[in-house]
Amino acid sequence: MSDTVSRRSALRLLGGAAMVAAAVTGPLAVSAHAYAPAPASRKVESLLARLTLDEKISLLHGAADPNSRGQAGYVPGVPRLGICPLRLADGPAGVRVTAHATALPAPVMLASAFDPALAREYGEVIGREGRALGQDVLLSPMVNLIRTPYAGRNFETLSEDPLLSADLVAEEVRGIQGQGLIATVKHFALNNQEKDRLTIDVRIAEQPLRELELRGFEAAAAAGAGAVMGAYNKVNGAFACENKPILTDVLRGDWGFEGWVMTDWGAAHSTVAALSAGLDMEMPSGDYFGDALKAAVRDGRVPQALVDRSVRRVLSVMERFSLLDGSAPARPDRDAGRGARTALKVARAGATLLHNRHSTLPLTGPATRSIAVVGPTGSIPFVSGGGSAHVVPDHAESPLDALRSRAGDGARVTYALGEDLFGKPLPGTSPGADFEGQHVEPGATWTYDGTLTVADDDEWTFVIHYSGDRPKVLLDGTDLFPPAPGLGEFFSGGLVGTAPDGLAVRRSKPLRLTAGAHRLAITAKGRDQGQLFRLRRTTGATRAADVAEAVRVARAAAGVVVFAYEDATEGADRTGLALPGHQNELIEAVAAANPRTAVVLNTSSCTTMPWLDGVGAVLQMYYPGQEGAEATAAVLFGDCDPGGRLTQTFPVSEDRHPMAGNPRRYPGVDGTEEYSEGIHLGYRWYEAEGVAPLFPFGHGLSYTTFAYTDLSVRPDGDGLAVRFTVRNTGARTGITVAQVYLGPSPDLRLDQARRALAGYRRLRLEPGRAQEVTVRISRRSLSSWDSGRHAWVLGTGTREVSVGVSAGEPRLTGHGRVGSAPAGGRG
Ligand code: BGC
Repeated sequence: MSDTVSRRSALRLLGGAAMVAAAVTGPLAVSAHAYAPAPASRKVESLLARLTLDEKISLLHGAADPNSRGQAGYVPGVPRLGICPLRLADGPAGVRVTAHATALPAPVMLASAFDPALAREYGEVIGREGRALGQDVLLSPMVNLIRTPYAGRNFETLSEDPLLSADLVAEEVRGIQGQGLIATVKHFALNNQEKDRLTIDVRIAEQPLRELELRGFEAAAAAGAGAVMGAYNKVNGAFACENKPILTDVLRGDWGFEGWVMTDWGAAHSTVAALSAGLDMEMPSGDYFGDALKAAVRDGRVPQALVDRSVRRVLSVMERFSLLDGSAPARPDRDAGRGARTALKVARAGATLLHNRHSTLPLTGPATRSIAVVGPTGSIPFVSGGGSAHVVPDHAESPLDALRSRAGDGARVTYALGEDLFGKPLPGTSPGADFEGQHVEPGATWTYDGTLTVADDDEWTFVIHYSGDRPKVLLDGTDLFPPAPGLGEFFSGGLVGTAPDGLAVRRSKPLRLTAGAHRLAITAKGRDQGQLFRLRRTTGATRAADVAEAVRVARAAAGVVVFAYEDATEGADRTGLALPGHQNELIEAVAAANPRTAVVLNTSSCTTMPWLDGVGAVLQMYYPGQEGAEATAAVLFGDCDPGGRLTQTFPVSEDRHPMAGNPRRYPGVDGTEEYSEGIHLGYRWYEAEGVAPLFPFGHGLSYTTFAYTDLSVRPDGDGLAVRFTVRNTGARTGITVAQVYLGPSPDLRLDQARRALAGYRRLRLEPGRAQEVTVRISRRSLSSWDSGRHAWVLGTGTREVSVGVSAGEPRLTGHGRVGSAPAGGRG
């Protein structure tokens, strides 16, 4: 977009930081700007001329798939005119259908590699598989910024930094679409939290909106993404899926997007308002864009031209992907081998070593021959997160098996559960019944009415595993497993909601039970399919025994690896930043028994680590995909350098992060969430407020050391060229991610970050080798959004440029002069 005023969006987006505080009620005023679409091809125009109104409308909403592969959405084509049906599948970490697919590491782990070429490869794998598995549209990538540490989908998206997110999403889109699968960038825009995601109104000023959240979407549009998915939430008063300022003025007007916009699943709220605001397709059904749209056209509330506009957009993308020729282009076979290789490569590249005292890692000497593995996710592979990012993996090895085979025959690798996710058999019931595998026949109802005798006063958590309708279990008259509020019932997590044999799992609230007899009543229904269920428990006593066993194996081993988990899913935010359950106590106890303890975190986002000083190492592995176990073993043994760096800041505690103590910011008050931190999102906030994080953005250790020298900064076209030398000064081949941060312009009277990522380079260097690196800072990175002028303005003058290994660890600092803009230069 030019530096001259972006007239189209002027006045449309509410501007100025003061806006956040100002009362803005109701939907934004509809602008008079009429976006004129580029004329479609002759073929598309000729189809438009031949399509009936019913056929046109059938292309603008989802329907039931007569031949479903288990994907999320379907749009029937118009066979008589050669328009193919569309099958639309999630998702961000691999193709989500009923069949097996490559379960790639979570997108946040991909992002941790700081490697756009790897993002392209990741996209290529999903693109090919999507086509091979009968799909035409992928509901990915997700590029909403990581804004709050609590957000349930932080693992599904990329980063808190807009530049990094933009670079990666653009390459991923190219990778996906290069294989012939249409990419859908989502969720436009500001779906940065799951709490109240269906209703929350996100209030944001123009400057942070443009500089932060929109940058990734803009990059995806520029990379040619065929589709955009509108978010559930509202943006400045209007639902995102009927929000003209973002759907038309920005997306179409400013960015020239020519693809189509679909809703998130069930995110439509209107017919006329949505269509005229720029929404093209309702998913997954046609509540508003089906019969209601037809009626609106018939009675003149919607001009035919508006329907044609949306159909034209859908058909134009379909034409680009050769979906207007009667049948879809030939589908390739899956290449599961390539998928697995990429999954492994990404998991190794994104493995982020946060802490490493006394060279606890890589495992060396006795610690390679005598290892204790602790934790439920040490034996159950934690492959992917829950919700629409879940993929049915081709296979997944357990970390324990991977470590055993890596350690070899001569080694002793022991295991202790440490933290029990799925419970232990129920003791002391009368009359006896098979609570370890009770079958209920189809149509039958199984009931139990008896007593559970408790030996000592203790805290109990009941765990039920079931394959059908969840059995009703009453203890002393209290329902142990009542329906979960909101979407909690709908989305199961990636790990804790499913037993290793596939049964669904739920846990009761912890209950204090007194010694003696308690009444237990169960009703389990077989319904059509019959069902199998188990009822189990954990108690204070079983927990203590599990920890004691973990301590015993840790003490007996030379090195210890504790696998800790945190299970996130869309539809819900995390309620705290601590590891769930009693894992903190477990880690403390194990590390006290053996300080050569490495903690592997299979978590969605940041966690607090009160035990950090007691452990030897912390390796952040997120949800590492189907090859996660092998990648983890490779990093632990030093077969490769941990290649990842944090793409989000990790706070020290629940009260030292941008959302802390500010409910208006998060989770919102009275249905409204305010971006009152303005442009100071993520690490920018820590810098601005002088708050020390636990680990800064960009942080991640290597097994070797690097020296950074010889910084020079000089003008380069409409940007800056930053040159420096990096040398591997250690004894092993390793990875460093050189990060270039830019300081504010003295000439702009706009809010600016103290330090913002303006470029980066991932480098792999052999011991002793040096490399001269040039990183270019683009004009966009040098510019700020001026909400008074509704335009990008170049931040001229002398700007500080630092090169370092995280937002908190600059190694070299210099300055570059930014002159005035050449007229008409790009922002
Ligand atoms: C999610 C989307 C997803 C869709 C279809 C929604 O709940 O927010 O990201 O693509 O479901 O599964």
